[in-house]
Amino acid sequence: MISVAAQHFRKLGGLPADWSVDVGLVLGSGLGGAADNLLDSRSAVVSFRDLPGMVTPGVAGHVGRFIVGQLGQLKVIIQQGRVHLYEGVGESAVIFPGVLMSELGVRVLVVTNAVGGIRRDLTPGDLMLIRDSIRVPVVAGDGSCGTQSDSSVQHVHGHRIWCPRLLQKFQSLPVAKDCPAGTYAMMPGPAYETPAEVKMLRFLGADAVGMSAIPEAMAVSSRGGAVLGISCVTNVAAGIGETPLDHTEVTETGQAAQNKLRLLIAAFLEKLSHELEDSGRLHGYGADCL
Ligand code: HPA
Repeated sequence: MISVAAQHFRKLGGLPADWSVDVGLVLGSGLGGAADNLLDSRSAVVSFRDLPGMVTPGVAGHVGRFIVGQLGQLKVIIQQGRVHLYEGVGESAVIFPGVLMSELGVRVLVVTNAVGGIRRDLTPGDLMLIRDSIRVPVVAGDGSCGTQSDSSVQHVHGHRIWCPRLLQKFQSLPVAKDCPAGTYAMMPGPAYETPAEVKMLRFLGADAVGMSAIPEAMAVSSRGGAVLGISCVTNVAAGIGETPLDHTEVTETGQAAQNKLRLLIAAFLEKLSHELEDSGRLHGYGADCL
């Protein structure tokens, strides 16, 4: 199934049969616009709905398409939108795009998502880099995440999900000096948390909370790719701010933060492109640095 989807992807993108991707970028809730003008003008669009095995997202703010093209030396796939576990599609559908990118040879995956800030210094519009994560659907859920759906992600070591070298590289960019790093907790959703749940997450050591990102990060890291996570704080988590949360606030703040995200991602990819130009391949990340 996955090799068929990869063949379709290459065909629909007008790519050669042996085409492989260097960097994948996943843009979450309200963050799809961070892709604008990132790639050169010859980029192609591949819609989720045209790929066998892909599920189309049902949530506002998630487009459901890939943009494929070049940034400097890098061959890049940008994924605009994702499906979530809470859409009831099963974990294999949620990780499918990540597995597809791995099948296409992805070396580095940059995953973005929208989160509520738990740590006091995280306010709407901030970007938090993911140093570590807590997968609450597994800690306290129904066990539907990472069990039988995909045998190759079952025994991934948690510490291998987020690549420390990529994180360091990103933090060394002058434009990233204001981005703190922290621990991200994934809740099952689709309801936002209660104030008591946010208290629990803070007690567990979480700095921010969202409903996505970890499944695809695991799918790619377990296949040898390196993953960097960037969370956009769209609101303060429940019980910390005065006002109740709503999805419009999440997408609107995400949209306002897109410019900042685009600048940071463009600077990061440029750095990786130079690295590829200098040494012929992206190495020292993911499975290479364990
Ligand atoms: N909780 C969970 N997911 C989210 C939030 C939140 O507060 N904000 C954006 N996505």
